[in-house]
Amino acid sequence: MAKFSPPPGTADIFPDEMPLWHRLEDAARRIFPLYGYGELRTPIFESTDVFKRGIGDETEVVQKEMYTFEDRGGRSITLRPEGTAGVMRALLNTDVMNGNEKRVFYMGPMFRGERPAAGRRRQFHQIGVENAGRVAPELDAENMAMMMQYLDDLQISGAKLLINTRGVQADRKPAEEMLSKYFLQHIGEMCDDCKTRALRNVWRILDCKQSCCKEIVKDAPDYISAYTSESRAYFDTVCDLLSSFNVEFQIDKQLVRGLDYYAHTVFEVVHDGIGAQSAIAGGGRYELYLPENKKPIVGVGFAVGLERLLMVQEALNVAAPVAGKGPVFLISMGAPARAFNMKLAQELRSENIPVIVEVEDKSMKAQMRAANRSNAAFAIICGDDELESGKLVCKDMQEGGQEEVSQIELKNFLLKTYKEV
Ligand code: HAM
Repeated sequence: MAKFSPPPGTADIFPDEMPLWHRLEDAARRIFPLYGYGELRTPIFESTDVFKRGIGDETEVVQKEMYTFEDRGGRSITLRPEGTAGVMRALLNTDVMNGNEKRVFYMGPMFRGERPAAGRRRQFHQIGVENAGRVAPELDAENMAMMMQYLDDLQISGAKLLINTRGVQADRKPAEEMLSKYFLQHIGEMCDDCKTRALRNVWRILDCKQSCCKEIVKDAPDYISAYTSESRAYFDTVCDLLSSFNVEFQIDKQLVRGLDYYAHTVFEVVHDGIGAQSAIAGGGRYELYLPENKKPIVGVGFAVGLERLLMVQEALNVAAPVAGKGPVFLISMGAPARAFNMKLAQELRSENIPVIVEVEDKSMKAQMRAANRSNAAFAIICGDDELESGKLVCKDMQEGGQEEVSQIELKNFLLKTYKEV
C-alpha cells in the first residue's frame, strides 16, 4: 500500500486525469439541456430518514451500506448512497406535487460501504437525471433515449440496454403469488439467502448470482402476465417508442433493481468491458416516499457510474481529449529578471494567458526542465542582458525554434496564439 493512500475504496483524482472526467461532465451539460434538463446541486449528506424511507428499509443499500453518523446536534445524518432520494427531497420545495414536471440532472460523489473491487468503490461518482412530477410512458422512453445518446456521445460502443417492468403496487401481489408458488416448489435446491427470500422477497431471487438459483429462475413463470392490462400496455408503449427511436434494447425479466422505489419501467446498461461490475448505468420509473409524505413523488430517471464509464472508455481505447495549449513558462536569470517576470506574468494572466514563473534561483537547465515538466508551450528567458535590451528570448517548446522579441511583440504573439486555442 502506498504511504499516503486515501481510505480503502476511495481515490484521489489528479489534474492529469481531469480532462477525462471533464469530458463526462461536459457531455452531460451539453446533452441533457437538449431535453430541457437543468443542473441541480443538493447536499452530500441528508437526514438518514430521507434514504431509509426513500430507498426502502429492506434494501441492501439501507441495511448494509450507508455511512451514517450522529452530528453534534444529535441528528442522524447519512452520506448520500445515491442521488434520487435527496433530489426528490429538494424538489418537494417546488410545485412538483401538483403535476408540474421538473427536469433536473446532477453530478457528484456518492457513498456506499461496499467491499472495494475493480469498478466498485466506497466513494464513487454518478451523473444522474430525474424527471419528476408526471407519469407517462413517453417520458420513460425519452429518458432512456437520452441516456443512450449520452453514452454514444462518449463513444461507449457495445453497451447493452436491458429493460423490464416492476408493475405498480396493484400488480405486485398477484405476480408475487405466482413467483412464490413456483419458488417454494424448488426451495430445497436454492442457496441459503434465496431460501429466506422465497418467504420474504421473491423478487430478489430473480437476480441471484448463484448458479443453483439461476437454473431455477430460468424456468420461472411469466409473472408479467399477472399484471393488470394497464400496466402491460404501459410497458408495451415504452418498448414501441424505443423501437421507433431506433434505440436497441433487450427485455430482461430478471432485472429487478436493488432500490425499493421503482414502479413500472426499470432498466440497466451493461458492458462487457469492465468484468464483474458490468452495470454502467441504471434507472427506472419510481414512486418515492419521503418522511412525513403520505403521497409518493413520481418520476423517472437514471444514473451512470463515472468510474465505470472511464473503465469502459479505456477498454475501448477511446482517445483522450485533445489537451489545450500548455502554459507560458517564464525563466528568470537573477533577481531583477524575476521581479520583471512576476509582473509580466500578472499582465499576461489578465489577458487569459496561462503563465508559470520559477520563483527560485535555479540554473537555466533546471528551469528548462521544469518548463518541460509543466508541458509549457513556450519558455521565455529573461536575464540582465534582456532587461537592458528590452528584448526577451522566446523558445517554442514544441517546434524547438527560438527568437528575440520585444515585450510588445511577445504580448501580441501570445494573445494571438492563445486566442486560437
Ligand atoms: P444504481 O444502479 O444503484 O442506481 O447506481 C447507478 C450506477 O452507479 C450503477 O450502474 C453503477 O455504474 C454506479 N455505481 C453504483 N454503485 C457503485 C459503486 N459502489 N462503485 C462504483 N460505481 C457504482 C441509482 O443510484 C439510482 N439512484 C438511479 C436512478 C435515478 N433511478 C432513478 N433515478
